Amino acid sequence: MLRFLPLKLGRVYRCLKLIFIVGLFVVLLMNTHTLLASFQKNELTDRRFIHLNKCPACFGTSWCRKFMNGQVSFESWGRLRFLDVFNVKNVFFAQYGEPREGTRRIVLKRLGSNQELADIDQKICKRATGRPRCDLIQAMYKTEFARLNGDVRLLTPDVVEGWSDLVHCPSQRLLDRIVRRYAETKDSGSFLLKNLKDTERMQLLMTLAFNPEPLVLQSFPSDEGWPFAKYLGACGRVVAVNYVGEELWSFYEAPWEKRVDLAKQLLDIAEQLTNNDFDFALYLLDVSFDNFAVGPRDGKVIVVDAENVLVADKRLIKQNKPENYDVWYESRFEECDKEACLSFSKDALCSRVTVDHNYYAICQNLLSRYATWRGSTGGLLHDPPPNVGKDGHLDHLLEECVKPKARYGRFAAAKELRQYLTELSGTAR
Ligand SMILES: Nc1ncnc2c1ncn2[C@@H]1O[C@H](COP(=O)(O)OP(=O)(O)O)[C@@H](O)[C@H]1O
Ligand SMILES: [Mg+2]
Repeated sequence: MLRFLPLKLGRVYRCLKLIFIVGLFVVLLMNTHTLLASFQKNELTDRRFIHLNKCPACFGTSWCRKFMNGQVSFESWGRLRFLDVFNVKNVFFAQYGEPREGTRRIVLKRLGSNQELADIDQKICKRATGRPRCDLIQAMYKTEFARLNGDVRLLTPDVVEGWSDLVHCPSQRLLDRIVRRYAETKDSGSFLLKNLKDTERMQLLMTLAFNPEPLVLQSFPSDEGWPFAKYLGACGRVVAVNYVGEELWSFYEAPWEKRVDLAKQLLDIAEQLTNNDFDFALYLLDVSFDNFAVGPRDGKVIVVDAENVLVADKRLIKQNKPENYDVWYESRFEECDKEACLSFSKDALCSRVTVDHNYYAICQNLLSRYATWRGSTGGLLHDPPPNVGKDGHLDHLLEECVKPKARYGRFAAAKELRQYLTELSGTAR
């Protein structure tokens, strides 16, 4: 009896395989015409495909000419539209061609799943008409996104507070910066709302409410040294950013020296986002191996998912002096059996000047043995060579950075860990 079981299972397996292959063949056959059309046609010149017809309920129009001219095209497999069912994230790899400069890789993002995008249409309609379906453009003018008319001078905290992580606790200085650096307008550079068109103001607010990532990239641009992908432009509900490189996850099994270098850079990012000349603290609330990428040439680590970045204005906190504002805040480690979880208190991030959140997030979710991702445990600094591992110093620093035993232990451990990794990468060269 027992001997027959593997035989039977083998047959079932072969049968399933056959059904799968036949199924795939049928799907391919049924899609032949779209398949051929996909290869011939550049969908990115199609206004409906990029949802340009939904503007101003969209993210911008600055790159529309490039899209319509056919300068932006999907990379080979990305052209096959029927594969979109697997692309839940709505992130596409593409090429952008500049007449004299040749082509370069870019990433196109719809900033949400199809369901999330449909939900926002429904919400706009419900707000304006009470019904889930309506003329979206007309409805936009009846929502809070149209609230800021020509008479309002500034985008003020009371209008947008809490709409998304970027503006969970916004200061006037932050909002002025967001408006001044808003690139989806012809003459950006002014923090006065009157210099934006009605439609541009609506697009700005819509982006702020739905997914503020483009605004994070524009307000804290890579050209000025911020560790984010470069924002290029938008057309309809598609946003274009520079392609950075492979995900950090692809380096999980890289040689030790490479991993030390990446770990050091990650801690540098934590430091830069926490302490900088601008007195803005940018706290990363979604830290995982696929939200960072590594440049192929310079080996630089960059944050590629900036949707969940909470920005606190440390100048405002120092000015308002909420209770305990100058007491250092230590994030609390919490057991969690899921991947890439983090514990944080947005209220604390917004009301304290000195917070160790970014160190905690990077140590716990990327570097230490607590970092679990796609079934692997051990973190980026797993399996150090014997000469590094034997004295237990690295383990001790990582442990202290995740679960500090001493008061303010994480601040000290993170600092020491950065130094230690610098030394290690120095000796490796
Ligand atoms: N600028 C970029 N360069 C390279 N890869 C990117 C870039 N932006 C996104 N990606 C890839 O696409 C994936 C999904 O993008 P992301 O913005 O994280 O979407 P989501 O918000 O749905 O998690 C990322 O994990 C990364 O692998
Ligand atoms: Mg992501």
